[in-house]
Amino acid sequence: MSDIHANYEALQVVLADIEQRGIDTIYCLGDVIGYGPNPRECIELCRKVRFSLLGNHEEAVLFHAEDFNAKARRAVDWTRDQLNSDEHDKESNYALWDFLGEMKRKKTKGRYFFVHGSPRQPTREYVLPKDADDTGKMNDIFDGFEDVCFVGHTHIPGVFSRKGDQYDFRYAIQLDNEYPLPTDGDKVLINVGSAGQPRDNDNRACYVTIEEDVVRFHRLEYDYKTTMKKIQAVEDLADYLAQRLEEGR
Ligand SMILES: [Fe+2]
Repeated sequence: MSDIHANYEALQVVLADIEQRGIDTIYCLGDVIGYGPNPRECIELCRKVRFSLLGNHEEAVLFHAEDFNAKARRAVDWTRDQLNSDEHDKESNYALWDFLGEMKRKKTKGRYFFVHGSPRQPTREYVLPKDADDTGKMNDIFDGFEDVCFVGHTHIPGVFSRKGDQYDFRYAIQLDNEYPLPTDGDKVLINVGSAGQPRDNDNRACYVTIEEDVVRFHRLEYDYKTTMKKIQAVEDLADYLAQRLEEGR
């Protein structure tokens, strides 16, 4: 899973679905926090995952938010304040910061390579559907991993594949949410979508499972109205952050 963005309602539904499938190894590709109203609760829940990678929002909260626009920066500052809240004891605040501080930029497990954004710029670069036409960019990105790369960051679930020197992007829905990994040595880059702020015009939480080299995209309804209300109640979180949860964009 990736891009939870402090959406507690979505994360609970995703984790319940994972548990119900009997899956015990969970990887998170970053942006556990940022934009949403429950950064503390989402970090707490993410303690049970095998690893959480560093996303651009964790990077912004930990280090700097220069490349964020004014509204996004305000959300970053608010998130940082939540993690330093006086209403909680110091130890529990430190534990949250430790979790963020331990996040790695990339991970490899067997044939799988995991990163938040892209292999060449782990936390920042967006690999968007239209980039499939940018052969130079795609060549560089595909040179950055060996076999199968999983990313998040754009919040748009789907698969980039390569045939010869041509690249192709398919939305998860075009693949019927199922993608058998190539066995002929072709590389693929898979975007797992966003658990907490989908942007493919489908407002349901998204995550993928990998089982016997078949990747499946799962979509789950959750109580986004509650998340919206929480966002609207926080002055530092812009209203469009609530609205986009309803619209899935
Ligand atoms: Fe994100």
